[in-house]
Amino acid sequence: MHPRTELPAGTLVVGVLGAGQLARMMAEAASALGIQLRVFAQSTSDSAALVVADTTVGELTDLAAVFKFAQTVDVITLDHELVPAETLAHLTANGIIVFPTSAAMEFAADKAAMRARLSQISAPMPKWSLVSNSAAAAEFAASVSFPLIAKSPRGGYDGRGVWVIHDAHEFSDLTYPVLLEEKVQFQRELSALVVRSPHNQAVAYPIVETAQQDGICTQVLAPAPNLPTDRAAQAQQLALQIAAELDVIGVLAVELFDTGSGALLVNELAMRPHNSGHWTQDGAITSQFENHLRAVLDLPLGSPTMTAPAVVMGNILGGSHPDLHRGLLHCLARDPELKVHLYGKQVKPNRKVGHINLVGTDLADLRDRIAHATDFLAGKIDE
Ligand SMILES: Nc1ncnc2c1ncn2[C@@H]1O[C@H](COP(=O)(O)OP(=O)(O)O)[C@@H](O)[C@H]1O
Ligand SMILES: [Mg+2]
Repeated sequence: MHPRTELPAGTLVVGVLGAGQLARMMAEAASALGIQLRVFAQSTSDSAALVVADTTVGELTDLAAVFKFAQTVDVITLDHELVPAETLAHLTANGIIVFPTSAAMEFAADKAAMRARLSQISAPMPKWSLVSNSAAAAEFAASVSFPLIAKSPRGGYDGRGVWVIHDAHEFSDLTYPVLLEEKVQFQRELSALVVRSPHNQAVAYPIVETAQQDGICTQVLAPAPNLPTDRAAQAQQLALQIAAELDVIGVLAVELFDTGSGALLVNELAMRPHNSGHWTQDGAITSQFENHLRAVLDLPLGSPTMTAPAVVMGNILGGSHPDLHRGLLHCLARDPELKVHLYGKQVKPNRKVGHINLVGTDLADLRDRIAHATDFLAGKIDE
C-alpha cells in the first residue's frame, strides 16, 4: 500500500470493497484521471487484485480490517452487492464516507426491500408479494395466474436465485421468505443507466436493450432499437427519479421489462457500474466507470453521449476451453475493430470472463460480428 506521502499532493484516493472485474475496470478509469484506486480483495487472484498495486487481502466480515483499509482512502465504493450491510454500517458509524450509502444499497441488495420502496413512489412494477410460507404463496397465486416467478430476496445474480413456478405443488420446495412476482410477458429487456453525485448532478445514458439467454445477458444494444423517443425519455426520467428518491450516489442501473404496449416495468436495481453499461467504455464520451468515480468523489460528471450511431457489447461466457488465448488470436486477426476487455478470470462454464465492444452504424452487422467473436472464444464454433 502506497502511503499518502508517496502520492502527489492533492491525489484523490478511492477504496473499492470487492475486487472483481468492475473494480478492475474502475482502475483503468482511475489511472487516466490520476486517482489512486485501492481494492479490498478476498484473494490475490481476484480480477482487480491482479492489476491494482494497492491491494489489501481480507474478509469483508472482518470489521477491523475493512476499517483500517477505509482509513487510507477519501471515499469507499463497492464492486458488488454482497458486501455485508453490517460492514457498511460499521464504516459509516465510524466516519467513513461510503457511496452508495448503506441505506441506498439495501434496495439493490434486497429485492423485496426494493419492491416495497419503489411501491412508495408508484414506480411501474410486476405484481409482487413477499411471502413467508406456502399458504401465503397460494394466496398470492390466487390473485395472479401461473406461472409465477420466485426470487430469493438476497444474494442472487445471473439468474441464480430466480425460479419459474408452474403450479402450487412447487411452493413446498421454496425457502421462505421468498419474493413472488407475476411472470411478465415482456417483449424484451431494457436497462436505464444513470449516474448521480452528492451535488445532485445527474446524467442519463441512452436506454439500451439487454438480450438474454437462460437468464444471462449475452448482448447489449445501444441505443435500444425501435424504442420511441418519448418512451426512452420516460425510462431515463424514471431512473433519474429513482436515483434521487433513493439518494443513490454513483451509477444506478434500472433493469426494465418492455411489454410492448403498456408501461416499462422495473425488474431490479444495481448500484454500481453494470454489465448493461460496459458498452460506454468504447461507445460513449465518458464511460460508466469514469462517471462512477467522478460521482463518488463529487467531481463534475462527464458527458454520457454516444460517439457512434450504434454500439454492441457481447459478453464472453466461459465455455469448454480453459485457455482464451488461441481464440483471441483468431478474433483479433479476423476483425481489427473489436475492442476486447478480458477480466483475468479463470474460465468456468457460463462465467462472464470478459466482453467485446464494437461501434458503428449497422446494428445487424455489429451483432453478427460480436456473436462470432464471443461464440468463438467460448468454443461454440471453430471457424
Ligand atoms: N417478474 C418477472 N417476469 C418475467 N421474467 C422475469 C421476472 N423477474 C425476473 N425475470 C427474468 O429473470 C432474469 C433474472 O432476474 P433478476 O431479478 O434480474 O435476477 P438477477 O439478480 O439474477 O439478475 C431477468 O433478467 C428476467 O429475464
Ligand atoms: Mg438482473
